[in-house]
Amino acid sequence: MTPPDTPLFLKALAGETTPRPPVWFMRQAGRYLPEYRALRATTPGFIEFCLDPEKAAEATLQPMRRFGFDAAIVFADILLIPRALGQEVWFEAGEGPRLGALPPVEAMREKTAGAGEALREVGQTLSIVRRELEPERALIGFAGAPWTVATYMLDGEARTIGKGERAQARTYAYAEPERVDAVLEVLVEATAQYLKMQADAGAQALKIFESWAEGLPDDLFERLVLRPHQALVRRVRELGVTVPLIGFPRGSAALAERYATACDVQAVALDTACPLEVGKRVQAIKPIQGALDPLLLRAGGPLLDRRVDQLMEAWGQGPWVFNLGHGILPDVPIAHVEQVLKRIGAQ
Ligand code: CP3
Repeated sequence: MTPPDTPLFLKALAGETTPRPPVWFMRQAGRYLPEYRALRATTPGFIEFCLDPEKAAEATLQPMRRFGFDAAIVFADILLIPRALGQEVWFEAGEGPRLGALPPVEAMREKTAGAGEALREVGQTLSIVRRELEPERALIGFAGAPWTVATYMLDGEARTIGKGERAQARTYAYAEPERVDAVLEVLVEATAQYLKMQADAGAQALKIFESWAEGLPDDLFERLVLRPHQALVRRVRELGVTVPLIGFPRGSAALAERYATACDVQAVALDTACPLEVGKRVQAIKPIQGALDPLLLRAGGPLLDRRVDQLMEAWGQGPWVFNLGHGILPDVPIAHVEQVLKRIGAQ
């Protein structure tokens, strides 16, 4: 058992059943909050905003003040890692990320050891937030998983054809396996260094976002998702990091039990499409996190209450962290977030 003053969120990650599930929302800092929009308007470039520790700390804390979530997630982005490896990254307003040419693998490999140091601003953000946050709230650090980050790095133009399937990156994975595997290896090392820096700076849990585990055939899931996650966890532990790790292989419910068993993360985050039954089976293996549909949160109404009740009924015996199955959308009414918190008994 964890000590009695352990934050609820960390109790659940330690496998304990909690009186109510701890709650936080994926992408809880962001455009659905008027205070975020006002703060964000003070720095035009998104990357520059992420690397301004005072502003990023303020963005992290905004949803905490408003809703009192059980955990804060550091305001940053998964696409800071390519930047630390020498690839240009920028955001086109209304269109999303754009990346410059992929640097040679050798040049990126030389930068892996310094990836934490290259993103020290994120560590400064974490330190500021930890200082400001009440002790009963936990602080989460994060990184993109190697494959998800690689899909952006390999397909910098974010082509519209098959975008949701990461078609270009997946084609490379078949057509140029050595190149893709080398990029993944570089990302494992850089990401491990980056996560260690975040733990040293005050992150009490670390989440690995594999947003593009979706739709992979099982042999590619094994090669692009499972093995790099295993290598990343091993490397993070080798570097002396002891905080719990949450893996989020989004869109892979059919392989979620395999992932939970084969990957040494402490908890598995489930996505919107994961059936309650599958969640229960994963929960028998390790703590789970998830998985309210962000579109139901947007819709609100009696169906929202009903689904929260269903989730509570299915997973409420724990260990479970209440969350969305994917990121909150920019037009979600704040009242709907409050509705969920009330229904869970967290507000
Ligand atoms: O509150 C939080 O969750 C912390 C911050 C956070 C952001 N991005 C801030 C952000 C986190 C955890 C992320 C993760 C992230 N970034 C993922 C994985 C999670 C997921 O949604 O699957 C991915 C794939 C990215 C890459 C990324 N960043 C994209 C594709 C986009 C554009 C789409 C969009 O939502 O606009 C971003 C931009 C981004 N990252 C914004 C925020 C708040 C919006 C940009 C802005 O505010 O100007």
